[in-house]
Amino acid sequence: ETGMVTIDPGYKNTGSCESAVTFLDGEKGILRYRGYSIEELAEKADFLEVAYLLIFGELPNKAQLQKFHNDIKEESQVDEEMKKILDGFPKSAHPMGVLSSLTSALVAFNPTSVDVSSETAMYNSIVRILAKFPVLVAWTLRKKKGLPLDYGDDSLGYVENIHKMMFKRPNQEYKKDPIAIDALDKLLILHADHEQNCSTSTVRIVGSSHAGLFASLSAGISALWGPLHGGANQAVLEMLEAIEADGGDTKKYMAKAKDKDDPFRLMGFGHRVYKNFDPRAKIIKKAADDVLGNLGIQDPILDIAKGLEKEALEDSYFVDRKLYPNVDFYSGIIYRALGIPTEMFTVMFALGRLPGWIAQWREMRLRKEPIGRPRQVYIGENLRSFVPLEKR
Ligand code: SDX
Repeated sequence: ETGMVTIDPGYKNTGSCESAVTFLDGEKGILRYRGYSIEELAEKADFLEVAYLLIFGELPNKAQLQKFHNDIKEESQVDEEMKKILDGFPKSAHPMGVLSSLTSALVAFNPTSVDVSSETAMYNSIVRILAKFPVLVAWTLRKKKGLPLDYGDDSLGYVENIHKMMFKRPNQEYKKDPIAIDALDKLLILHADHEQNCSTSTVRIVGSSHAGLFASLSAGISALWGPLHGGANQAVLEMLEAIEADGGDTKKYMAKAKDKDDPFRLMGFGHRVYKNFDPRAKIIKKAADDVLGNLGIQDPILDIAKGLEKEALEDSYFVDRKLYPNVDFYSGIIYRALGIPTEMFTVMFALGRLPGWIAQWREMRLRKEPIGRPRQVYIGENLRSFVPLEKR
């Protein structure tokens, strides 16, 4: 029996599915969504367009994009009862835990979202979550800041509306901030999909039991929370702030990262697939310079990040292991410049990854993939007889 099975820890050399959504080449540092390069999409597309592309496979024309956005606006109300669940959390609750719970709770207010056997039911569920998740993200942020919960404004673009719900001050008219919205739009595009990463594989395997889209996404949010995955963007900022507090002593943290007895890793470095520069990191590094320049912000954390990157790229430990900055290394610096609290960084990753998770879940369901159920190699006890309590 065990001869049949070979174990591949972390599935480093296992393909879980065939997919047409995203293409990665780790050696060449290539990333494409439905065949379009990440460089072109980050430069020329907007996030809602990219969401449509990932989910339905083609760039939308004007009418298709307009209908998609209108259908989303129709669904942008979140049941007021959901606020009772949000209120149940202490202010200290981590936003990723809050959002994973609220996303799962949405099923109770949208019961039809479970049965997605028809394409129409699938579309309705997809539009519903694309509409409501940004509201939940904004509510979670405002709850943490002690601000009144806000609602969307149908006259705004999709990302503009996200920015408005997150940042509109209660006693002021919302004023558009094109620099911030453009940076946010680009960051969301760069995070939108990444083939079979940990959280996407989680969405697929939960979805393979036909648990429904919202339940699958809730599981994906939990997987993304981990500091080895999406949680890294928060861990990078905490690391950079610790280095700054330590007088900018990057050498001490480099030594810790190389010390096998020290669990500390250089957060924002390394990648399972990219054995070269993460193409997203390059784009985000430039965007960080642009945003801070445009906003006139001098952030010492950015200088520390650049210093750390330079040292690591010249250090044989990192070079030999092909450890380069990944998408999480610079993104937190932009989020910080946009006034997003560190604890919300991974939530912003989830907001960007939502269309990718949806696209991969939809592909898995349309291809009628079987339920995920791997085997194992048993290494436990052989058969033994029960011993009554009085004899143990
Ligand atoms: C994301 O999969 C995706 O696509 C993810 C993502 C996406 O878009 O979905 O790209 C988003 O999660 C990016 C990664 C964010 N995580 C981090 O920045 C956390 C720090 N990085 C590491 O934990 C690590 O690099 C991983 C988790 C990203 C990848 O780990 P692997 O592929 O399992 O590699 P490994 O742990 O086997 O490491 C290989 C070697 C080991 O040393 P040796 O045992 O060979 O001597 O490299 C070392 C590791 O100790 N190493 C590091 C390191 N990363 C790997 N040493 C110090 N610092 C690091 N960051």
